[in-house]
Amino acid sequence: MENVAITEDLSPLVQQINPAGKGWLSVNLGVFVNETNAPCDLFRRVKSHIGGRPKETHVLFAQQGYPFGHEIRTRLADFGIKELYVHDHDAVLYFNYVKEMTDNILRDEKSTSAQKATAVYTCCQEIMKKVYYEPRSTSLEMAKGLIEPTVETIIADPFTSHALIRMASFDSDTYTHCTNVGIFGIALAKAYFGLRSEKEIRRLGPGFFLHDIGKCQVPVEILNKPGPLSPRERKIVERHPVDGIRMLKQMGVNDEETLLIAAQHHERDDGKGYVSGLNRSEIHPYARICRLADIFEALTSNRPYHRRRSSFDALKFMQSELTTDIDAELFKTFVEIFAPNPRR
Ligand SMILES: [Fe+2]
Repeated sequence: MENVAITEDLSPLVQQINPAGKGWLSVNLGVFVNETNAPCDLFRRVKSHIGGRPKETHVLFAQQGYPFGHEIRTRLADFGIKELYVHDHDAVLYFNYVKEMTDNILRDEKSTSAQKATAVYTCCQEIMKKVYYEPRSTSLEMAKGLIEPTVETIIADPFTSHALIRMASFDSDTYTHCTNVGIFGIALAKAYFGLRSEKEIRRLGPGFFLHDIGKCQVPVEILNKPGPLSPRERKIVERHPVDGIRMLKQMGVNDEETLLIAAQHHERDDGKGYVSGLNRSEIHPYARICRLADIFEALTSNRPYHRRRSSFDALKFMQSELTTDIDAELFKTFVEIFAPNPRR
C-alpha cells in the first residue's frame, strides 16, 4: 500500500445524493416473485402541493405481511410504477428477504439459468444502491451476504454465469456500473487463473463490486458532466481510488488485497495511469483485471459524454486502441468469456 500517494485534501466534497430521498431506499419490483407477502412496510412516493409548493412524500402502500402477489405487482406495472420505497430502518428486513428469495431461486432445480441470473443480478443491484448511497459498515455487512451468491454462482455454475455476463453487457442503469464490473471481474479472474483461484476469488470478489466506492465523494455534477473536465475536476475524480481505500477501511475492510483493487484499478500496464503511475509488475493482478472490466463496462454503458457501444464494438475498440495499457493475454481471456456457452 506504500505505492498509493495520498494527495492533498480537496474538501469540501459532497456525497452523491440518494434519489430515493434521505432515509429511504428504492425497491425494484423485480425482486418479488410468485405469490409473496410484503417483507416490511412498502411505500409509494407521491407528489403533493403544500402551500403551492411541490413536495414529494412517501405514503404507505402495503403493510408488512400484506399479500403482495403477482396481480398487485402487475397493476403497479400497468400504472408505470417500477419501484416502491422502504424506510431505512427496515433495510435489514428487506435485504434478508432479497437474499432468501435469491437463495430459493438458486436452489430450486426447476429454475432456469436465465431466472437464476436475473435473481442474482437484481440482488446485487439492490445492495449496490445501498452501499454506494450509504457507505457505512452496516451496509457493507449486508453487502457481503448478498454478493456471496453471485460470486458462488460465477465460480460454480457456468450456465448461469454466462447468462449473468450477457445480462451485465446490456444493462446500463447508472448505479449498475459496479454490479457489472463485479460480474465481469469475477468471471475474468475465474477464467484467467482457473480453479486454483476459487478460494481467493471468494475472499476478494467483493473488492470488484466496491472498487469505485470512492466516487461517492465526487460531486454528482462532475460525475455527470457532459463535456470535458477541467484540470481541477479531473483531479477530484482521480482521487476516488484514495478516497475508496479510506472509506473501505472505515467500513471495516482490512484485507490488504481487497484494498489494492480499489487503490490500483486505474493504474495502467504502461505506467500512464493514476494514482501512482505504477508499471505492470507493481499492479496487483486483480486490480489489472478490475481495470479491464471497468474499461469494458464504461464503453458499453451510456455516459453523459458518449453513447454505449455494443459488446462486439467495445471489444474491437479495446483490441485496436488500447494496445499498451492492457495485457494481451488477459484481454484474450476476457473475449473468451463472451463466447457462446453450451446451452442447457
Ligand atoms: Fe474508478
